[in-house]
Amino acid sequence: MTDATVKMDAPFPASLLDSAPAPTVGTAQPRIDGPRKVSGTARYAAEHFPEGLAHGVLLRAPIGCGRITGVDAEAALAMPGVLALIRDERLIRNGGDFAGAAAPVQGVDEVAYFGQPIGVVVADSPERARAAALSVKVTYEAAPGVFDMEAARGTALPPTDDIYGLFLIHTEQGDVDRTAHEAAALVDAVWRTPSQSHAAMEPHASVAVWQDGRLTLHASYQSPVVTRDQLATVMGLQPSEVRILSPFVGGGFGGKLGVMPEAVAAAIAARHLGRPVKVVMTRQQVFETTGRRPMTHQRVRLAADAAGRLTVLQHETITDQLAGEVFFEPAGLATHLLYAGENRLVDHKVVRTNKLLGVSMRAPGEAIGQLALECAMDELAEALDLDPIELRLRNEPERHPELGIPFSSRALVDCLRHGADRFGWASRNRVPGGLRDGEWLVGHGMAAAARGNLFGPSRARVRIDAGGRVMVETEMTDIGTGTYTVLAQIAADLLGVPLARVEVRLGDTDDPASAGSGGSWGAATSGSAVYAACAELRARLAAAAGLPADTLTFADGMVTASGFRRPIAELVGDGLSVEGSVQPGESNSRFNQTSYGAHFCEVRVHAVTGELRVARWNSVFAAGRILNRQTATSQAIGGVVFGIGGALTEELVHDPRSGKVVNRDLGEYHVPVHADIPPIDVHFLEERDPVANPLLAKGVGELGVCGSGAAVANAVYNATGVRVRDFPITLDKVLAGLPPVSAARRRA
Ligand code: MOS
Repeated sequence: MTDATVKMDAPFPASLLDSAPAPTVGTAQPRIDGPRKVSGTARYAAEHFPEGLAHGVLLRAPIGCGRITGVDAEAALAMPGVLALIRDERLIRNGGDFAGAAAPVQGVDEVAYFGQPIGVVVADSPERARAAALSVKVTYEAAPGVFDMEAARGTALPPTDDIYGLFLIHTEQGDVDRTAHEAAALVDAVWRTPSQSHAAMEPHASVAVWQDGRLTLHASYQSPVVTRDQLATVMGLQPSEVRILSPFVGGGFGGKLGVMPEAVAAAIAARHLGRPVKVVMTRQQVFETTGRRPMTHQRVRLAADAAGRLTVLQHETITDQLAGEVFFEPAGLATHLLYAGENRLVDHKVVRTNKLLGVSMRAPGEAIGQLALECAMDELAEALDLDPIELRLRNEPERHPELGIPFSSRALVDCLRHGADRFGWASRNRVPGGLRDGEWLVGHGMAAAARGNLFGPSRARVRIDAGGRVMVETEMTDIGTGTYTVLAQIAADLLGVPLARVEVRLGDTDDPASAGSGGSWGAATSGSAVYAACAELRARLAAAAGLPADTLTFADGMVTASGFRRPIAELVGDGLSVEGSVQPGESNSRFNQTSYGAHFCEVRVHAVTGELRVARWNSVFAAGRILNRQTATSQAIGGVVFGIGGALTEELVHDPRSGKVVNRDLGEYHVPVHADIPPIDVHFLEERDPVANPLLAKGVGELGVCGSGAAVANAVYNATGVRVRDFPITLDKVLAGLPPVSAARRRA
């Protein structure tokens, strides 16, 4: 039962956070879970060793499409310590995403992609399980699969589901064809982005323990309640019969949203053997058998009149996915709202391929959609001989250009102006290839950023014990984002206790359910539930004091009013416990809620080798109230690094004969490392968004990814005069177009 609910049907009148006497919210606070992480005492999923533990290793399909005709485990089962080979059709069901209820049901012998789990081998040690799995002889009949999305583009069909109506599969207004033919300036091109991997630091791991008919899973999931419900469905259990614990998650980026095969394998094997079973994926298995960001083929057509006003915005995306799966990469998301313009067409289609499941990855849709859109804007600005910032300023919409609804808050123009100042944009060289520093070609680029702000139902329990200590409990997770710290700050400020007197417990499905960590909604939704609980606690403390709540001040562990001063501990008696919740309401549909930003960067391209280096970076963001400057900055920097990776290095390579992931480790799948990244300057504008939630905050986790890759690509063009529309922009794609270097110089 929830004691206090905030429903967002209208702008929130006034946030109690704005009257906290000594606020920690808004300041930079180091993570309260930091000491446990650096000292190794934060226990991750794979670090659980219950009594009698056995170890499972996934057995996986060695073909990309076809049938398993035989599994000979005789030798494997005779090996020392080997307990079982379990083959079960439930193994290959996976949630994949929030929309996992529609996961495919297939026989365990049918293979839809290379690396698909077809069994689990269990032994008394991980080494023995692995050796046994390698000894299992699998025979198969390969069938011709679809491995090349480009070649199969003609088979593209609309997605089967709009994923809660969020992704807007198809919108259309005006006449894009006719208007494009009359335009003063036109850009019409195709951008391609490859499959990408989340590449979180911590591999997927699950430890399953059955006790009295109930399954407990120590696992690493971003939204344990979602995973619990999916796992319960797969196992034929009630959700109440499953408990998932994910107090620490070593990165997710969307790859740990839906239930993955290691969790199902551990649960099935533990039940089968009557003892706890741990399944930890190897790095290669994470790359091959969890999920990926689907590849895209994006046609963007932009047209403008002579005054630089957009007349056509057209963005058609073709992406790929396994048959039967509902998730699709919604690359056109930001195109619906970023710029004004009367004639518009946004469309998505899906090609069914036999490749690893496509799932959400950090800023699904927007991250790679803005690679195309924001590069196209750069090309259009050039065609108009306009500064790219000026082009954006001339196309700033008053309201949502397709839905006609107001924006809850929108500071894109301020982000562009502040960013330009901080970077020194005005003094840049405008002639592509026109600036050299020795053998380096120097270029500058910019792009806008937008990421939708989402809000879902969330609950949290806040307790004050007899000693005045505060405990916050919610199923919400901290996937490296700072949730522990942010929730503690909100409770500390609202109840007027020092941060050190607040404890936060996360990631247990037996605690009040949250919206989980995903879609950049984590801090704002779970923080709002904590807000609702604390507001109710203040009312109860006021009742205990016999005074109206709005006359009280909560600070330093004391409750004070004129002529009244008592320690909070004295007012709570044996303790107070309140459950707060937040519910989305009409504000979700009456307003468009989006976080904005602008990126500016300098890229250097070596004139001889084509080596690309990002040399300088400024980003400015507006995302409502910033709850913790340190963790938000860290999220923003991480997002920009993600964007740089998408622009320059990240590509999951599929073998064209089988769809197999070729570069299935961090040595071959290139995420940027320290030496690839310059100091990144992140600045947040002061903003409050009363439409969003009681915190007046919007999401930041995915905002930095949006547009940042396009800023890099635009800078590469400015440096070299080479437009690369096939991401990532590796040096081989730039080299051919570089200005000639004399043969003598090349040798030197
Ligand atoms: Mo995110 S892709 O919802 O973790």
